[in-house]
Amino acid sequence: MEAMVLYGFWRSVRASRFFNFTNRAYNIMTKPETILVLDFGSQYSQLIARRIRECNVYSRIVPFRIAAEEIRKEAPVGIILSGGPASVYQDGAPHCDPAILELGLPILGICYGMQMIVQTLGGKVARGKAREYGKAEVESTAESPLFAGVPGKTQVWMSHGDKVTELPRGFKPFASTSNTEFAGIQNPERSIYGIQFHPEVAHTPCGQQILSNFCRLVCQCEGNWNMISFIESAVREIREKTQGEKVILGLSGGVDSSVAAALIHKAIGDKLTCIFVNNGVLRKGEAEQVHELFGGAFHIPLKYVDATDRFLDKLANVTEPEKKRKIIGHEFIEVFDEAASEIKDVKFLAQGTTYPDVIESVSIDGNPSAVIKSHHNVGGLPAKMNLKLLEPLSRLFKDEVREVGRKLGLPEEMVMRQPFPGPGLAVRLIGPVNRRDLEILRNADEIIVEEMKNAGFYYKTWQTFAVFIPVKTVGVMGDERTYESVIALRAVDSRDGMTADWVKLPYELLGRISSRVVNEVDGVNRMVYDITSKPPGTIEWE
Ligand code: XMP
Repeated sequence: MEAMVLYGFWRSVRASRFFNFTNRAYNIMTKPETILVLDFGSQYSQLIARRIRECNVYSRIVPFRIAAEEIRKEAPVGIILSGGPASVYQDGAPHCDPAILELGLPILGICYGMQMIVQTLGGKVARGKAREYGKAEVESTAESPLFAGVPGKTQVWMSHGDKVTELPRGFKPFASTSNTEFAGIQNPERSIYGIQFHPEVAHTPCGQQILSNFCRLVCQCEGNWNMISFIESAVREIREKTQGEKVILGLSGGVDSSVAAALIHKAIGDKLTCIFVNNGVLRKGEAEQVHELFGGAFHIPLKYVDATDRFLDKLANVTEPEKKRKIIGHEFIEVFDEAASEIKDVKFLAQGTTYPDVIESVSIDGNPSAVIKSHHNVGGLPAKMNLKLLEPLSRLFKDEVREVGRKLGLPEEMVMRQPFPGPGLAVRLIGPVNRRDLEILRNADEIIVEEMKNAGFYYKTWQTFAVFIPVKTVGVMGDERTYESVIALRAVDSRDGMTADWVKLPYELLGRISSRVVNEVDGVNRMVYDITSKPPGTIEWE
């Protein structure tokens, strides 16, 4: 079985672009055209940046408090003011530095962002008669570059309680709804635009066209942000930053650290050493796959540390999930530190930190603040090791990280891997971790993944995995009574792991998985399907 998995994995490695990736001189750029998104606390700020990047323009979220001078130094090609939950006329409502509106840069205000522009420039905003939430039809009432190629009447998504009642001098409306004559406003001489609706959400079908119009027709962007140009500039930046010094990276086998490893290796070759710690709670074949891919196909210097015994000894008799987490986290730092100390003169620790790891939306609860999160899985390492951090993916969203991985030739199985918790199978094996139950869990998990892949469901779900339940129940196999363990199947859909829905898998597939697990995995005689969403459940059982 394992050989089959490895064979499939290898076939995709060979077929992947790694083997014919060339170093063509792609449109090298020094600094990408950038549109800054000033975050006023909208739940959609990240989505706005994401959509702008889909227009091949780099976009970054900044707190609304950013000074005009700072923006001038950064020299973006345009600015978007996000929506937000506040009312512009409330005491303490978030306002950007008014000088930003005088920088001469193209500006697009969305919902709250538009209302703030109106109020700042001398117009009026008032509480609407009714809160407008949901789909609305917007009608174009005058020419506007924002609406180029957009039908005269189109569906949009509204979410606001306030509305613009009087425009500032120099502004004219170009779109209306039955609820407001100012659904779209513009001052083309100053390149300032406002829309009351949300173009970034899927419920506004022409939203991407509108944002693209802002990028191309208003900000005059060429559109040079793509993952090939990112790789070119990241490679240059990594070389400049590391200056020939050695770098180590903790490879977990997950997408982020794998892509970071491939990217850094492209930049500095053997100056990078990856350290892969087998903590004894990995899935079946995982250690071998990482070892083969990075040490083998990619020829990246790889230090493989099999610390299974060390971890499992410490975990024996531990039931409490938080305690398991702490033990694994602490032990990982120790083992990693020991392995790293055997590599002389290392100056940098690389991490696969991504953009959502470093940015958190501004929280508007009277006290807006931008919170920077530390990378949870390797927290504590940099400080302990006194190394400089290298985080080449920190500007990328997850799907961009995957695309970089593809461009660097990582196989599809690797770039599309499902999230896997740092504490691994220890939080999927309920009760004390021991080798026998781990073996049962691994074997069941392998069958689940295989059947989900065969049925074309694996990559469509956020996570699919087995959970070992330390309960024995009676069964009958052949003529014999059995008394064995229970395996649960968990399959969930999610956008970010914060909420999740259980997946309505076809009965035939559930039946096939159950039949194979019960028949093929020694020690299991019953399988159940977890039909709990999050909330109220969590994704992992722990
Ligand atoms: P829960 O179980 O809280 O999980 O609904 C949400 C997402 O987070 C993952 N998860 C973890 N990831 N270290 C990690 O790196 C952890 O300790 C951890 N616990 C949960 C989980 O797999 C899901 O994707």
